[in-house]
Order: sequence, then structure tokens, then C-alpha cells
Amino acid sequence: MKFFLDTANLEQIKEAQSLGILDGVTTNPSLMAKEGIKGQENILKHYADICEIVDGDVSAEVLSTTYEEMIKEGEELSKINPQICVKLPCTIDGIKAVKYFSSRGIKTNCTLVFSVGQALLAAKAGATYVSPFVGRLDDISTDGIGLVAQIVDVYNTYGYQTQVLAASIRHTQHIIQCLEVGADVATCPLKAILGLINHPLTDKGLETFIKDAAKMV
Ligand code: E4P
Repeated sequence: MKFFLDTANLEQIKEAQSLGILDGVTTNPSLMAKEGIKGQENILKHYADICEIVDGDVSAEVLSTTYEEMIKEGEELSKINPQICVKLPCTIDGIKAVKYFSSRGIKTNCTLVFSVGQALLAAKAGATYVSPFVGRLDDISTDGIGLVAQIVDVYNTYGYQTQVLAASIRHTQHIIQCLEVGADVATCPLKAILGLINHPLTDKGLETFIKDAAKMV
């Protein structure tokens, strides 16, 4: 399973990249606004900066909602770097835009997916990634990981090539659950990824080894 970092924060992206386990980055308008990025020129520069840090795909979301505007915006985003993956909402206009870009060989991430029917449309339009939002479904007492499992199953049955990118991951256990149901990618906050390393027996074992190592010098 690939790990993407779900942030627009350059320091966190550098930190995750330095771990050597980062496969890409996803952003959204809320994450970009949180970093204080404003205006078209700064938006494009920020995506270029992210691409400089990571080797893999970088999802850049369109701000517009109509087909024509999404095409214009997505084309501009895709020119920044071949790593850019145009992120489009799962709406009628968004699906049409996914089809437009996929038929031109431009990578897409179909976002704000909350049902298997939406995931089917994204795959049929040729999306590179589909993003089911796990945490936001859990927030309304609906099984987010269950949706990821259902999409993985349907894509395997019908041979769709679209990769299942589990989004809205809130904690470390979500990552383990994504592994168990066969998600292709999990896009996570850095804290959730770092949580994978923690184990009290590792800490205790290391403490003993350090003590014993001192006896050997
Ligand atoms: C991913 O592509 C989404 O932008 C993100 O995971 C949403 O996460 P949230 O529900 O924690 O805002």
C-alpha cells in the first residue's frame, strides 16, 4: 500500500520525505487555505514547491465547479509538473472533467466520494485515483472502511484500473484497516503515519539492549 501525506504543509512534507516512505501528497482547498496560500500565482508556486520535495503524485484540487472552468483550471495545474494529478469533485461536471483529462493522459483524483455508485462512475470515466472519505463517513455513524472494502471488491471483480485512495484518514488504526481491505493508497496526516512506529515492547527492549551494550565497552 502506498502512503500519501494529506497536507499542504511543506515542513511536514519534508519530514515525511526524509523518512523514505513517502509515495505522494494530497491537498485540498481547506489544507491550502490553512497554509495561508492565496491567489493563483501563489497556488501554482506552492504546488511546484511540493513537487520539488516529493517524488510521487501530487493531487492539486480545482477550485471551480463547472465543467468548462474545471478544464481550464486543471490544464493549468497539469502544466506545473508531470507529478500533478488533477483533483476533481465527484459531481456530474467533475466526472465529465475526469473523462476529459483521462482521455488526454492527464492523471486525475476523483474526490469527495461517499458511495460505491460514485466510485463506479469515477472508474468508468478513467480516474487514476478514487478518494472515498473514511473519517467523514465514520463521523456520521457510517462504516468508512466498509466503503473502501466495497470499492476494492467491485474494482477487482470488474478489472477497473482506478486505484482506491483511502482519504479522510484520521488515525493509525484507520491505516491498518486500509491495509486489511486492500486499499491501493492511504492518504494520511503525518501523526497517523508516525503512530505506526510506536510499541512499548520496542521501547522496553531497546532500553535493555542499551544497558547491556554499556557492559560490552
Ligand atoms: C483527501 O484527499 C482529502 O482532502 C482529505 O483526506 C480530507 O480529510 P478530512 O476529512 O480529515 O478533512
